[in-house]
Amino acid sequence: MVVLGLCGSLRRGSYNRRLLGAAAAGLPAGVALEMFEGLAEVPPYNEDHAAPAPVRVLRAAITAADAVLVATPEYNGSVPGQLKNALDWASRPFPDNALRAKPVAVVGASTGLFGAVWAQAELRKVLGTIGADVVDQELPVGQAHDAFTADGALIDPDLRSVLADIVGQLLRKVPTGAEQLT
Ligand code: FNR
Repeated sequence: MVVLGLCGSLRRGSYNRRLLGAAAAGLPAGVALEMFEGLAEVPPYNEDHAAPAPVRVLRAAITAADAVLVATPEYNGSVPGQLKNALDWASRPFPDNALRAKPVAVVGASTGLFGAVWAQAELRKVLGTIGADVVDQELPVGQAHDAFTADGALIDPDLRSVLADIVGQLLRKVPTGAEQLT
């Protein structure tokens, strides 16, 4: 099973990328997290244009994955523009887009106290509007500069437990082979 990891930050040393690494380290056998590395190449959405190559790559990566795990920073109380823009591209054609009924979970880290909860809430709303099958729970990693061990694990056991819970919920949403046939 493949989970596509989508980091909403383009920053080298991103705490959200670290969070996806922590999630990957806890995945059960037989499940791999594959990072989408093309976010910076996705151009601004323009309805006049057919999807350019970086968008086709994004859509194909979503389609090929069994589930998607998004880690988002919070920029000015909301979802970073580059991430929202990529999801706008992924949402078309509507309703038969790559994210339709796709299991998706959202986690987030910020250097503020609240752990990007506004961005996560808005992102879950956006993903629901697009038609994804979104895990309800959030993972607020606040003060992210102090939240990880040197090897990238979450220090707080409660946060580790919530991350495992969210990933478990995400994987349980993936249809089994038998369900896919019906
Ligand atoms: C931020 N940051 C921030 N943090 C927060 O908790 N709430 C916010 O509204 C904002 N707004 C904001 C806007 C912009 C333009 C930047 C660059 C940053 C701080 C943010 O949490 C911090 O930079 C994180 O480290 C970003 O995540 P990555 O890049 O480490 O994954």
